[in-house]
Amino acid sequence: MTVWKVLGEMKAESGEGARAPWATWVGGRTWRRHPAFRLVMSVVTLAAVGCAAPDGGSNPVLAGTGEVAAGEELFAANCAQCHGVDARGTDQGPSFFSEIYVPSHHADGAFLFAVRNGVQPHHWDFGPMPPRPGLSDQDVADIVAYVRQLQRDAGVME
Ligand code: HEC
Repeated sequence: MTVWKVLGEMKAESGEGARAPWATWVGGRTWRRHPAFRLVMSVVTLAAVGCAAPDGGSNPVLAGTGEVAAGEELFAANCAQCHGVDARGTDQGPSFFSEIYVPSHHADGAFLFAVRNGVQPHHWDFGPMPPRPGLSDQDVADIVAYVRQLQRDAGVME
């Protein structure tokens, strides 16, 4: 018995009229019910779930998936007013080159928290930082990537 004959019989069983045997196999439902297919699909699903959950879950800030170039523009538009061009600081806010802003003191999540909730003055005398609405998690991830790059270039961070 050839493969085509088997497929032809499957087609006959599933009553799919005049479609070609391969169309039944590829487009029909028969194969989706097959236990081996179900097993493969559950393995694929598990693998996909596993990949979607690195350390930071699905949050791009915590997962560290920011883009430096995008972050540079977002920083200039939203943060430089106080934190200064290239994060060098102004009389409105601190530079991120202070070693208190390296990841071991202020992890990436601190940026997300600061943007969402603002910051009460606790390290300096600049006054509070207001929340910065209108930035997505990905925007903040991009800003963090940019600031970390600057910190690395300035030698304040490994
Ligand atoms: C209106 C001025 C202002 C703007 C705009 C601003 N900040 Fe701030 N930010 C401050 C000040 C002032 C502090 C320091 C508060 C303190 O610790 O005394 C601060 C502190 C921070 C901190 C440290 C938080 C902590 O836990 O100590 C982070 C992170 C931060 N800013 C990120 C940002 C980012 C990212 C942006 C742009 C999206 C931004 N800031 C825009 C004023 C500002």
